[in-house]
Amino acid sequence: MLLRHIRYFLAVAEHKNFTRAAEALHVSQPTLSQQIRQLEDSLADAGADFIHVTEFEAWKPAFGPSGPTLVQLAKKYAPNAVVVANGNLHDVERANEVIAAGADIITFGRGALATPDLPNRLAAKLPLNDFDPAILGPIADIKESELAYEPA
Ligand SMILES: Cc1cc2nc3c(=O)[nH]c(=O)nc-3n(C[C@H](O)[C@H](O)[C@H](O)COP(=O)(O)O)c2cc1C
Repeated sequence: MLLRHIRYFLAVAEHKNFTRAAEALHVSQPTLSQQIRQLEDSLADAGADFIHVTEFEAWKPAFGPSGPTLVQLAKKYAPNAVVVANGNLHDVERANEVIAAGADIITFGRGALATPDLPNRLAAKLPLNDFDPAILGPIADIKESELAYEPA
């Protein structure tokens, strides 16, 4: 996998369209498609043991208003890999939905940060604490002057 492959992948992700991404990259659409195919092949050849897909709401379509979730896509394209999922899955009903869709392991980000004894609370069917984003502060934003910095 080359840096170029990642750059091309990011352009497709940003524009959500091969034609527009190719225009933005100043390459032809067949060239872009070939590069994306190479990226897919190198990921397939990497032989990953697991794929961790992360979303804010893991049960929702990955792209646009309808279609498969990231878990369903991971299962489809890497049927032999263990699929790990997170995205608001401290909600047990949602977690079951995502397991039914193919996830092998569920993980918790915000749920576990808000409720450190989350496994016990879930087992006892007790309510969880609300997540307070303030615990993530202070946010280390990059200043404009730092973005403009060019090393000598
Ligand atoms: C502490 C923390 C750091 C995160 N960092 C990133 C990140 O760097 N990039 C990203 O795409 N999502 C990031 N997320 C979002 C998570 O990947 C995930 O989509 C979101 O928290 C929902 O899943 P959860 O309910 O399991 O927390 C972060 C979340 C948390 C709580």
